Amino acid sequence: MADHAILAGKRVLLVIAGGIAAYKSLELIRRLRERGVTVRAVLTEAGARFVTPLSVQALTEDTVYRDLWSLTDESEMGHIRLSREADLLVVAPATANLLARMAAGMADDLAATVLLATDKPVLVAPAMNVRMWQHAATQANMALLESRGVRRIGPNDGVMACNEYGPGRMAEPMEIVDAIAGVFAAESHRPLAGRRAIVTSGPTHEPIDPVRYIANRSSGKQGHAIAAALAALGAEVTLVSGPTRLPDPAGCRVTHIETAREMLAACEAALPADIAVCAAAVADWRVDGAGDRKLKKDGGAPPALALTENPDILATLSRPGERRPALVVGFAAETGDVLAYATAKRARKGCDWIVANDVSPGTGTFGGSDNTVHLIRADGVESWPTMPKDAVATRLAEAVAEYFTGK
Ligand code: PMT
Repeated sequence: MADHAILAGKRVLLVIAGGIAAYKSLELIRRLRERGVTVRAVLTEAGARFVTPLSVQALTEDTVYRDLWSLTDESEMGHIRLSREADLLVVAPATANLLARMAAGMADDLAATVLLATDKPVLVAPAMNVRMWQHAATQANMALLESRGVRRIGPNDGVMACNEYGPGRMAEPMEIVDAIAGVFAAESHRPLAGRRAIVTSGPTHEPIDPVRYIANRSSGKQGHAIAAALAALGAEVTLVSGPTRLPDPAGCRVTHIETAREMLAACEAALPADIAVCAAAVADWRVDGAGDRKLKKDGGAPPALALTENPDILATLSRPGERRPALVVGFAAETGDVLAYATAKRARKGCDWIVANDVSPGTGTFGGSDNTVHLIRADGVESWPTMPKDAVATRLAEAVAEYFTGK
């Protein structure tokens, strides 16, 4: 259980949407107030069909905000102030409908408007029928919101009000209280505040002609997760990303590039920095003299592609000099003798640390959700268990923070 002492004196804006689980939000208000949290509530029109404004008002001992157009509410407390005068926005229950409106950036009622206008962290506790939760649209909306930094607690598995079984039950009030304490703890843990970081991610595309290119299988999942994890610890992150299908991670400045030479230029433009993490799968070679006319099949011999070496971004950033980041971390993608090749790569490129991963066919490292890595530093090797790429990123970001804080 998270330490609840951090909750005292905090201000939560609770958005109660229209689901049967809304009755649990009354209990949530009580549990938060017992811990010294000021709770202000926004009740949607549908939410008011499940719990009465009077109950919410009695428990919060405050006005219940319901109507974007209410002159009284607007004169007493504009919707912008309402969202800003909270330390955290909690949506419980978060219905499929409200999640969809949040993902689409709609502002068609007071709840959606405060959620769009806020610059504070947002925690959602989804609650809905299992099929609605598992629907591709809801899953895509939730993934998009999480990529933008929205936190989630639940839903839990169990029997639902509609008598179906599966994930869809809203987390219990005390689980939500715990999650809220966890958000505040994470927000106050910013050991990289004031540090600048450059992260490279994804593949590069090297043109053969205007319509064809050389690429590789990198999805950007690992690099993007590292950028997000460093930002979560307070670093000011520039993510230099090759072409991927991923949304830009929350809290990062993102430069989109295609080729290795563009990636190098974007990294150099982002200097000075304290930290550089090169997770991109940069093409080692490009096609020499790729023209601006499409190569034609003319019945003769296939064209021979002459390759020329790309600049090495990691080696360039690692070069001693005034603008060298204090900590340069490279990756090594190997298909055999992982530790030996990666150790040699660390020395050859001149970086401080190298994160070695096996990318042999069958490992799923390229494009998959999990990774098995070894962190190689001057003083030895740490082998980490297989874990989700997000967890690898968090652990690496914590190691970076330790490097700077000495803790
Ligand atoms: O993107 P995902 O699907 O999540 O997959 C993650 C990953 C496998 C791409 C990632 O974990 C990884 O291993 N990234 C490095 C891939 C790679 O190009 O490794 P390498 O061993 O070829 O290169 C070594 C290092 O030099 C890397 O830090 C690379 O970014 C860098 N490099 C390489 C060539 C070049 N011209 N410039 C570079 O900076």
